[in-house]
Amino acid sequence: MKTASINFDKFNQLQDAACHERIRIARAKLGQRAVILGHHYQRADVYQYADLTGDSLKLSRLASQTDADYIVFCGVHFMAEVADFMSKPHQKAILPDLAAGCSMADMANLAKVERCWRELNEVLSADEMFTPVTYINSAADLKAFCGDHGGIVCTSSNAERIAQWAFARREKILFFPDQHLGRWTGYKMGIPLDEMMVWDPDLEMGGLTPEQIRQARLLLWKGHCSVHQMFQPAHILKFRNQHPDGLVIAHPECSFEVCKQSDFVGSTELIVKTIKEAAPNTRWLVGTELNLVNRLAEEVKLEGKTVQFMAPTVCMCSTMQRIDPQHLAWVLENLAEDNVVNQIKVPDHEAGLARLALDRMLKAS
Ligand code: 13P
Ligand code: SF4
Repeated sequence: MKTASINFDKFNQLQDAACHERIRIARAKLGQRAVILGHHYQRADVYQYADLTGDSLKLSRLASQTDADYIVFCGVHFMAEVADFMSKPHQKAILPDLAAGCSMADMANLAKVERCWRELNEVLSADEMFTPVTYINSAADLKAFCGDHGGIVCTSSNAERIAQWAFARREKILFFPDQHLGRWTGYKMGIPLDEMMVWDPDLEMGGLTPEQIRQARLLLWKGHCSVHQMFQPAHILKFRNQHPDGLVIAHPECSFEVCKQSDFVGSTELIVKTIKEAAPNTRWLVGTELNLVNRLAEEVKLEGKTVQFMAPTVCMCSTMQRIDPQHLAWVLENLAEDNVVNQIKVPDHEAGLARLALDRMLKAS
């Protein structure tokens, strides 16, 4: 018999050790009915329960391939949305804490993107001239906007290939919400910096003149990641002075100067792979979230590799951090009793178009 759903309040008071015990019991009860996906930035005490781990690209593929009734996403809101609209009708995407958002994703919203599109239309025909490209770190309605306007989704591991796809269709790209990933992608494709203009959504016409809009090949939405903006070229300089043989790797959400001064730039999956495959006894400076860097440092230390965090201060993704053992225990216990809590459901009218934009990406990458 189905029981009433269990309230979170009781779990909030639980010590971690008690949560781990309850997670193990509920997980065993659920068996194949649930799959736990974990992004690389998840805290260690939650990451250990993930059945499948990866970066955004890998996790969005995996979300469309699993068969479990419940896809429990240890990540942030936009990732659970992707799991929802990419999964089969009988599957439910669950986000253990609904407050786990992404501050960068929140820097663009549908009203502002539609206004931008209207303003672009005052200068030239946006639908003929621009392909809208949204970073996967965005709400489902923005992915749907791209689906509806001949656009596409990209992740940090395929942005260049996706930009080629976009330029093959139209002369210009409107890229949102991360200006840094957009700029780095354009730079790698050989687009001069003066043909990449920043669109400030809080200003009329993005703060640009009609002439600047006509000249731009890449319009970069004025958004950024609050974690990756902490890394500075000075941190790289200091490391290189101390360790001339050391290597630097950064996520493309870092500033242009940080990316330029790094030896490698890539997604979280690429960062993990590059360091794991590196020669023993190498030393690395890594510009991405702290949970990933700490885990990696542990995993490779027996090979004599040293992995150092790029910033001198602690900077974690505070929203990813919200998924803690208390929330995981709470959702799993409820699901084990078939009480669906914290389901993420993208409305049907958005889901179809968002899926179209994401399917275009999966085919192109
Ligand atoms: P990845 O796709 O590289 O995992 O990046 C996701 C993210 O949010 C980085 O801040
Ligand atoms: Fe969003 Fe930045 Fe956190 Fe990634 S690290 S989820 S971009 S806030």
